[in-house]
Amino acid sequence: PLVPVILCGGSGTRLWPLSRETYPKQFLRLLGKETLLQQTMQRLAGIANVDPAILVCNETSRFVVAEQLREIGMEHAQILLEPARRNTAPAIAAAALHALSRGDDPLLLVLPSDHVIKNHAAFYTAVHTAKAAAERGNLVTFGIAPLGPETGYGYIRAGTAEPGQARPVIEYVEKPDRATAEHYLASGHYFWNSGMFIFRASRYLEELAHFEPEIVAACSQAMAMAKQDLSFIRLDSQSYTGSPSKAVDYAVMERTKNASMVAMDADWSDIGSWASVWEASEKDCDNNAKQGDVMLQDCQGCLVHGSARLIAAVGMRNTIIIETADALLIMDADSAQEAKRLVAHLIDTK
Ligand code: GDD
Ligand code: MG
Repeated sequence: PLVPVILCGGSGTRLWPLSRETYPKQFLRLLGKETLLQQTMQRLAGIANVDPAILVCNETSRFVVAEQLREIGMEHAQILLEPARRNTAPAIAAAALHALSRGDDPLLLVLPSDHVIKNHAAFYTAVHTAKAAAERGNLVTFGIAPLGPETGYGYIRAGTAEPGQARPVIEYVEKPDRATAEHYLASGHYFWNSGMFIFRASRYLEELAHFEPEIVAACSQAMAMAKQDLSFIRLDSQSYTGSPSKAVDYAVMERTKNASMVAMDADWSDIGSWASVWEASEKDCDNNAKQGDVMLQDCQGCLVHGSARLIAAVGMRNTIIIETADALLIMDADSAQEAKRLVAHLIDTK
């Protein structure tokens, strides 16, 4: 069997004012009727022989997650609750231990909950290829042809393989600095890491135990002492918070000798800025993307997202307007990356 593990415990404010510390982007309706988490769950339906998913999130998000699953009729998924955020290596370990505790040793398809994948067929093909490699004991990741020297991604250099086969990972570098990323991009030999993985539960834990024994020890204890609460499983607080906080990329993927990569051309985006929301949105004939109660006249290339009020705009070009009950963001689309600085400043001063 293949068990999806959905990571939905991250926080982020890059899509401020819509995403907040306690309401990160996976829970938002950014593109269409469903939230990114719901779209992630619905995508699973197209994978052959897939078991119900395990979701891992912070205990403070438990009702949001449960409600979003219920809305799409997927409440049979299991939700694991973290008492505190310890990043992705422990979150995946908890899910792997839970899967093993049910008696078998399934392949885990680890997925972030906050990405957009437009070409589902390409995603399913990549999963199929990756499964075969994971069955042979590999830790498989999905590579994306890079579009720029982004420093927020992992970079992968892969060796060659027969068509339709996973390629061995030669080098895996998480979040390189700008100069290194530029060098990788120019070389033409690197992929972005998509942040999705497939491996057998026991293989992941073996590798993690090799590099980060403290994480496995803490998670094993947190799972052994876990408590059922309604339909949730609560990891033991004292044990889990004792785990080192580390991303799977640094903890395992950069170090393992058993990584392989499947290239995926699925119109993927991790929606890191409002500009990428605009890119991924359906647009009208003037290239405007609208959500909510929005009226535009003589506008072009705009993204307008309304939550609480009617928004009307006239004569705007390449402008992003994001309205919420307590904050309004207006910015030039070309400055979308700069929003990070503003938000950091806001968080510091408030
Ligand atoms: N349950 C849980 N607990 N989930 C978490 C936690 C945690 O403590 N921290 C992060 N997550 C979730 C996030 O919600 C997201 O869905 C996923 O795990 C990835 O975490 P991010 O924090 O978004 O990672 P990143 O974007 O910096 O980097 C990863 O993704 C990139 C692609 O978007 C890496 O895998 C990079 O190599 C990759 O390029
Ligand atoms: Mg991310």
